Amino acid sequence: MRDISLHLMDLAQNSIAAGARLISVDLALDDNGVLTMRITDDGRGMTPEAAQRALGPFATTRTTRKVGLGLPLTQANARLTGGDLTIASAPNEGTTVTCTFYTRHIDCLPLGDLAQTIAALVAAHPDGPDIELSLTSPKGESAFGTAETRDILHPVPLDTPEVIAWITQSLREQTDVLFGGER
Ligand SMILES: Nc1ncnc2c1ncn2[C@@H]1O[C@H](COP(=O)(O)OP(=O)(O)O)[C@@H](O)[C@H]1O
Ligand SMILES: [Mg+2]
Repeated sequence: MRDISLHLMDLAQNSIAAGARLISVDLALDDNGVLTMRITDDGRGMTPEAAQRALGPFATTRTTRKVGLGLPLTQANARLTGGDLTIASAPNEGTTVTCTFYTRHIDCLPLGDLAQTIAALVAAHPDGPDIELSLTSPKGESAFGTAETRDILHPVPLDTPEVIAWITQSLREQTDVLFGGER
């Protein structure tokens, strides 16, 4: 069973594969239940043709573990709700992937465990790329950034089990407050 958090994981891994040093993740839920998920990276980017190709199935530039379904599957699940996925990218200028999900649509996937997803990304890449997470909903907003957290904790590495547990816990509290009860 897929959920939106797993799609976020896929998209963030694309950014990491593209050599990003900074990945910004914005999740915003509006009054009408429309969830906009935007992932912006400073990785190698794509030509418009490559971005178009990437939305067709089995387009991958990976040479190992070829799959090439991350973007098209996410787009298909967004479209099932009446939303979409779009790519804005340019070579050497990075990439922004924007997905919209109409969360009140019967076919919308659950949000999933966003806290666990972000914590897993941090645990797998403690020295970067940096992740800047911003969460917005009608109930408020919050933010989390690895660069700031790394500075505060220095010299304790981000992938220390206690640190990952703390990140998971505090993100879970934030997501429960902001996105809890929506579905
Ligand atoms: N953030 C990104 N920056 C640069 N290229 C990307 C990005 N996301 C996707 N791509 C390109 O699109 C292709 C397809 O991505 P995806 O559908 O997730 O499949 P996969 O990751 O399995 O290759 C990738 O192989 C890559 O060439
Ligand atoms: Mg992928």
